[in-house]
Amino acid sequence: MKKKRIVSGVRATGGLHLGNYIGAIKNWTEMATQHGDADFLFFIADLHAITTPYDEKALKDNTREIAAAYIAAGVDVRKMILFPQSAVPGHAMLQWLLTSLTPMGWLNRMTQFKEKAGKQRDNAVLGLYAYPVLQAADVLLYQATHVPVGEDQKQHIELARDIAGAFNRRYGQEFFTLPEPIIRKEGARIMSLRDGTKKMSKSDESDYSRINLMDDADTIALKFRKAKTDSDPLPDSFEALKDRPEAANLVTIYATLADMDRDAVVKQFAGRNFSVFKPALAELTAEKFTPVATRMRELLSDKAELDRQLAEGAERARAIAVPVLDDTMKLMGFWGTNPFHSADRVAGLL
Ligand code: TYM
Repeated sequence: MKKKRIVSGVRATGGLHLGNYIGAIKNWTEMATQHGDADFLFFIADLHAITTPYDEKALKDNTREIAAAYIAAGVDVRKMILFPQSAVPGHAMLQWLLTSLTPMGWLNRMTQFKEKAGKQRDNAVLGLYAYPVLQAADVLLYQATHVPVGEDQKQHIELARDIAGAFNRRYGQEFFTLPEPIIRKEGARIMSLRDGTKKMSKSDESDYSRINLMDDADTIALKFRKAKTDSDPLPDSFEALKDRPEAANLVTIYATLADMDRDAVVKQFAGRNFSVFKPALAELTAEKFTPVATRMRELLSDKAELDRQLAEGAERARAIAVPVLDDTMKLMGFWGTNPFHSADRVAGLL
């Protein structure tokens, strides 16, 4: 059986929130415990960050902040490969190679582009439209077998599978591994604290809509206190919350952070009001996040060391990426990554 290779990333925009933590990072570290013999590559998607307006002076610090969050939340850099996407130019190169295999119709279906571009579709930049092809390159470049993500990224991973299939058919061999999305059953879509029908997002204008990984205990308590709910007490089964999206979301957050079943959480608080449940949820969240935030601050206080770890991760990532890119280019009729240079020099370039 093929060795498992688990690859994922987070866009380098702003800090991380509870949705990213539950939907992605917590999942990664759990997979690391379950699949001890797999390869893990986690990157900070800084090339993806420039597809919407951004501050170039803050880009490196945003990238470092996410790297620190990965490490603080349990990504072990001795066992796993952690790096900024831009430090491995093969991502952008493979993206270009794959664009010629990707029908525009496939990209037109991407809901995230429609949401992000909104009514300004004609003014949206090409990078935002082509973004899912870069995401496909991110995982195909490492022959990823599994990609742990939240529900909102499922469509992009399915597109990566379609592109891999198109390549394999066009060039007549099972070259690219078809990556499988790994989406947790509960908590794959954490909703905004202000509106239970909208996902929790970095781009929401209101900071009260999300809990950030770096929020302190008082801020967490305040945000949950202000979170939208209804005035009914909690029922005795999770199923009974199906028409109460805000209540269901808070219960889901509690269950995933406490590693409990949602029914068990509802039963524990059955008949109680949110005036009881919300403080318990705030306490649990602060208990989980405070040590992560403290460790993040420590890591961020030594940027040189963090950068050194990222540089080391990038080198390890390049060692996997270059042979895949080389084979891809040769299959497509190019010379490969090393046509006219010595191997040493190319290793430095890519
Ligand atoms: P991004 O940065 O928006 O989100 C990072 C991860 O967090 C998950 N997530 C959520 N999960 C549950 N509830 C939420 N409210 C929530 N919001 C975000 C996302 O599903 C994701 O797993 N395009 C990607 C980054 C990326 C990537 C990749 C991911 C670039 N290349 C290759 C996987 C593989 C993105 O913008 O995620």
